[in-house]
Amino acid sequence: MSIKTIILAAGQGTRMRSSRSKVLHEIANKALLHHVYDTSLELENNKVFIIYGHGGETVKQTLNHFDATWIEQKQQLGTGHAVQQAIHHVEDADTVLILYGDVPLLKSQTLKTLLQDVSSQSLALLTVVLDDPTGYGRIVRNADGAVTKIVEQKDANPSELLINEGNTGILACKGKQLIEWLGRLSNNNAQNEYYLTDIIEMAVADGLSIKTTQASSQDEVLGVNNRNQLAHLERVYQQQQAYSLMEKGVTLRDPNRIDVRGEFAELGQDIDVDVNVIFEGVNRIGSNVKIGANCIIKNATIAEHVEILANSLIEDAVVGANSRIGPYARLRPQTELADHVHIGNFVEIKKSTVASGSKINHLSYVGDSEVGSKVNIGAGTITCNYDGVNKFKTIIGDGAFIGSDSQLIAPVVIGKNATIGAGSTITKDTPADQLTLSRAKQVSIATWQRPVKKEK
Ligand code: UD1
Ligand code: CA
Repeated sequence: MSIKTIILAAGQGTRMRSSRSKVLHEIANKALLHHVYDTSLELENNKVFIIYGHGGETVKQTLNHFDATWIEQKQQLGTGHAVQQAIHHVEDADTVLILYGDVPLLKSQTLKTLLQDVSSQSLALLTVVLDDPTGYGRIVRNADGAVTKIVEQKDANPSELLINEGNTGILACKGKQLIEWLGRLSNNNAQNEYYLTDIIEMAVADGLSIKTTQASSQDEVLGVNNRNQLAHLERVYQQQQAYSLMEKGVTLRDPNRIDVRGEFAELGQDIDVDVNVIFEGVNRIGSNVKIGANCIIKNATIAEHVEILANSLIEDAVVGANSRIGPYARLRPQTELADHVHIGNFVEIKKSTVASGSKINHLSYVGDSEVGSKVNIGAGTITCNYDGVNKFKTIIGDGAFIGSDSQLIAPVVIGKNATIGAGSTITKDTPADQLTLSRAKQVSIATWQRPVKKEK
């Protein structure tokens, strides 16, 4: 079966009150249209067409990496008119699937079920039973329960308005028939629009049966029209992510207080996540990792048995097994920590490697550095890697001990097992195994007198 999916995304979205096109608004850092596109990719043998509106150029530009054909609908004359814009790409033998670009939580499994109902004798329609069907097209059925037509809210009579089975807008049928039905659409209705929904009555007249599939929930087929609905679907999406994580063996202290804005390329078992943790981008997390409250973890690779304490930020970094990070630590891009590394509070690491067993426990900045194994970097140590124009490297040999409050002015090499006296400003390479320090000798002045305030 060869599928052509037509995603309708030309609507204005005025109720978002936004300068951005509606379908570019995001759920979990991903555009609404991107969610729909990704879902459609889960169907095999599928070609995607996207109908975008006047002024929708930014949509096309933003999402131009899609493997899709973009088609402009210059005027929004209705859903039927929107599909007409793509119809010359449709061949008789195709199965055509219609999706909406503003319905982000639709599941591919639902579509697969729907598509099974398509044949030259039947049209497949996705419907939903609604608590409040206001605004939706109503599914009209005869005494035998067979669908006879869809009537839009604005065209419905009082008894039709009582129907609580709504049209999701999502349907599928054979190309040959769709081409023929679209050619017969008129805009003779309350909104003077070309309604795609009118093809249902035509299909019935042609002797087809309308086979319906029910959406798994109202939220699965909810379209975003305003920011309230956007926020609602964000929460629904996050709840789904939380349940999926728990199913895979992750403990969430509170499934309502985690946000996943991306994916897990690897996920171990017995990961324990405290509240208000945000995962972004593509993360790889090993087994038995413990993540404290309020951490943000983005594009990170975290090996097993790592403990990340509260309020830490990790971005584009690698953390080796059995390491301990935080609380209040910041690992910036291109940080690579080996195993058994300790990074403590108010420590920032950028574009640096830290070898096995090293400790940087308090109030330090380490940037553009190579830190050896079993190094101890004392509180308040700073690698001065930047002269205002260029960046330079600091290399610290295995077993070195850097006294507190030292500045290492790069480029500089600290030898293996070297010790740097506290409070030193190191401007030259220091030899292995020796103590190096640079500070004024301590003096006490016995004759010194504290100034006294003169009485007036
Ligand atoms: C449509 C359906 C209605 C269904 C409802 C579900 C029709 C006539 N009505 O109504 O039965 O219950 O969706 O939300 O189909 N669009 C275009 N070009 C257009 C018009 C719309 O691309 O000219 C796109 C919109 O961007 C949107 C989708 O089609 O993604 C639906 O449009 P919308 O205006 O929301 O349709 P409704 O009138 O709500
Ligand atoms: Ca709508």
